[in-house]
Amino acid sequence: MELLQNDLLLRAARGEKTERVPVWMMRQAGRILAEYRAVRDKAGSFIKLATNPELAAEVTLQPVDLLGVDAAIIFSDILVVPEAMGLPYEMEEKRGPVFPKIVKSMEDIAQLRVAEPEADLGYVLDAIRIVKKELNGRVPLIGFAGAPFTIFCYMTEGKGSKTFSVAKKALYADPEFSHQLLQKITDSTISYLKAQIAAGANLVQIFDSWAGILSPVQYREYSLPYIKQICDAITEAPVTVFAKGAFFARREIGELNCEVVGLDWNMDIEESRKLIPNKTLQGNLDPCVLYSSFGQIKAEVRKMLEAFGTQRYIANLGHGVYPDTDPDKVRCFIDAVKSY
Ligand code: CP3
Repeated sequence: MELLQNDLLLRAARGEKTERVPVWMMRQAGRILAEYRAVRDKAGSFIKLATNPELAAEVTLQPVDLLGVDAAIIFSDILVVPEAMGLPYEMEEKRGPVFPKIVKSMEDIAQLRVAEPEADLGYVLDAIRIVKKELNGRVPLIGFAGAPFTIFCYMTEGKGSKTFSVAKKALYADPEFSHQLLQKITDSTISYLKAQIAAGANLVQIFDSWAGILSPVQYREYSLPYIKQICDAITEAPVTVFAKGAFFARREIGELNCEVVGLDWNMDIEESRKLIPNKTLQGNLDPCVLYSSFGQIKAEVRKMLEAFGTQRYIANLGHGVYPDTDPDKVRCFIDAVKSY
């Protein structure tokens, strides 16, 4: 067993007593820190940075050193899985990710492979190994992957979208195609997360960022069963399921084989505790609170902690921190949780 100096996150995840509330931030690695942008510029691009284990490790550690969070999250992206399956992506400044080729037919699915983590994603696993060495037990390391439905959205749509209408059209028009592709993504994701844990990740989070565009019926058919397969397969470390916008599925998410459920700010805290009674909850401050004054941030954090309570709880934002957030406001948020 690895000895960690600060294991608050893992104890909270397992439902054990914690002397204070652990805190970290989704999308803490990158975006908001000038120190991150300096390393990215040195690397030349986002993708060059993400595929360089030494540099990826360096930006993973920045929020631990500069912001004082209680966990590191490996610097990578959810889109490395489609790439490992044979569908490369590009990252365009301002526009975000773009896939030159998309998946349209059964033949396209047949040409994809199930990702082999050591061969196809070795650079992420190497970055995890370097981070673990440099962390030297200071805080736990979080690994992650996209939920199969969210990855399906990018693989069929080819880029970001407000509605993902191309992806949703596939669900309605061709259920068999959709299930086949979702299954191939799921198989890739399970072996990838297991490899991250074997390399040193202490907990893994599944990001279902586009859950909120589905109806409850579609969510039950096209997203939950695949997240369930992942949760059932990952027995080596605690699992967090964060399904943005899936307020309608909280009870079912709470019944998954996972340790932690992430909430966004649309989800009422008391109602969520009732719907998900036996799990640790994570979240859920509106990232826009960090645009307000220091005093207001402290007051909002206090309200949030009073509503969640201090046990079975991991403080976080309700989604990733926005890129134009002042790092001092982020520090104010982190410190307000730690001093509660
Ligand atoms: O949390 C962390 O700090 C670890 C790093 C991380 C990144 N992406 C780095 C990144 C994580 C966990 C992600 C997850 C991710 N990527 C999600 C799920 C979480 C969420 O926010 O809903 C999604 C949907 C993506 C896909 C993606 N990657 C988009 C839409 C974009 C462009 C817009 C944006 O979010 O910034 C990216 C690029 C990306 N991934 C950046 C970073 C730091 C920005 C590029 C850069 O600053 O160089």
